[in-house]
Amino acid sequence: MAATGTVLVVDDDPAICVVVGEALRRQGHKVKTAASIRERAALMDSFRPDILITDVMLPDGDGLEGVAEIIADRPDLNVIILSAQNTLNTAIRATEKGAFEYLPKPFDLNELTRAVADALGTRQSAPEEEGDIGLPHDGLPLVGRSPAMQEVYRTIARVLSNDLSILVLGESGTGKELVAEAIHSLGQRRTRPFIAINMAAIPRELIEAELFGYEKGAFTGAHARTAGKFEQAQGGTLFLDEIGDMPMEAQTRLLRVLQSGEVTTVGGSKPVRVNVRIIAATNKDLPPLIEDNRFRQDLYYRLNVVPIALPALRERREDVILLARHFLERAAQEGLPRKTLADDAAQLLMAYHWPGNVRELQNMMQRLSVLSRENIITADILRNMLPMDAVPADYAAPADHLVHAVRDWAKRQLGIGLGQTNRSLHDDLLGVIEPILLQEVLSSVDGNQIRAAGLLGINRNTLRKKLTDYGLDPLQLRLAD
Ligand SMILES: Nc1ncnc2c1ncn2[C@@H]1O[C@H](COP(=O)(O)OP(=O)(O)OP(=O)(O)O)[C@@H](O)[C@H]1O
Ligand SMILES: [Mg+2]
Repeated sequence: MAATGTVLVVDDDPAICVVVGEALRRQGHKVKTAASIRERAALMDSFRPDILITDVMLPDGDGLEGVAEIIADRPDLNVIILSAQNTLNTAIRATEKGAFEYLPKPFDLNELTRAVADALGTRQSAPEEEGDIGLPHDGLPLVGRSPAMQEVYRTIARVLSNDLSILVLGESGTGKELVAEAIHSLGQRRTRPFIAINMAAIPRELIEAELFGYEKGAFTGAHARTAGKFEQAQGGTLFLDEIGDMPMEAQTRLLRVLQSGEVTTVGGSKPVRVNVRIIAATNKDLPPLIEDNRFRQDLYYRLNVVPIALPALRERREDVILLARHFLERAAQEGLPRKTLADDAAQLLMAYHWPGNVRELQNMMQRLSVLSRENIITADILRNMLPMDAVPADYAAPADHLVHAVRDWAKRQLGIGLGQTNRSLHDDLLGVIEPILLQEVLSSVDGNQIRAAGLLGINRNTLRKKLTDYGLDPLQLRLAD
């Protein structure tokens, strides 16, 4: 039987208070709700909850203000932050204030009840000394509000105050290096060096010399003792990029260094103590390399203490426009002509599959800023820049637009309503909208299920199952010539 406790829910949206309150009461918790910071303060005294769940944007101020003080006063209290400002900034601020958990809105009710159960389970343990890391967080480098990026932000916020090894995974151009730099420059080692080394860019026979340094005369051309990347990164962060391309022998030595905390130069005999945080990255799938005896399993475990998986851009299409505008804005700030995206261009960008991920999008926006004579970028201009055949000529703009509009609307209206209350409403609506959407999208791509699934942001098996469930026949949905 899970532990129960007392919970104070603070949100100025009465729907959230009702839905969350009801869900928690059903789990056996005692719940009170408040709609402002003032009401929150009063109930903190009279109700003395075990758990405080609070929104950030409240009518009488910033809900995060005062949270650190409340926790200082009540060290046994666990705080769960809800916020619609889904940025890395909010995740970091929540963590800094000592919050137990941060949930971006719209949140999943199951996730929230789980967080409450977890919080009650750990209530006895002393809160971690986090302390304000004291940086102005404006202009943080990572752009994106999709749920997948929220997960990334939460993980980043959690690793800033410790030295755990991190393995950043993701396709080329998804932002692996940017994440590594962000962790360094926001974390406690930020005043020390950030040193990057790319295993794929260095001849294999030089990797050990580069990493660990070498003594004078260790090999032809070694004219003086030279410090390796480990020593250069002393006190800071070492970013091991393309770790999947590291030769086996170098892996063995790397593992030994990580285990002992000491490096010995090539040709040297006296070990030097090093203190570096390791962030590794790869766009390869490491487990098959381990199977193949091309990557050491023990090294994998050592590096993969905290994995951060970056989503491909096509898996977070809702971020495409945000990113495109961000890159156009940056170009304008660098003095290039200011460009804006026409609606049909935005639709086309969202429909494209971005094999080169954020880097490809960034390059395209830079090229447009420099080369395009028009200030409003239309789909026609873009079509000339995209690889041939990348986007179907009839790329289903209206259907795609509709899908996104409905998805966003449903998320806002029903995203919190996964409890019993709204479940049937949710199902009813879905039952009406979904078959229409499926038909629209499928016919706009001439019955091509792969493309339809891509546009809908679901996988092909899910699409197939839905078609069967609704009794739809994809072959009937092809456009008549
Ligand atoms: N979320 C993001 N917000 C803003 N810019 C981003 C984001 N992700 C990536 N970028 C930009 O896209 C480019 C590619 O990112 P980065 O070099 O970090 O990718 P990578 O995953 O290391 O790629 P590769 O595997 O090819 O080395 C960089 O210029 C980076 O600044
Ligand atoms: Mg990289």
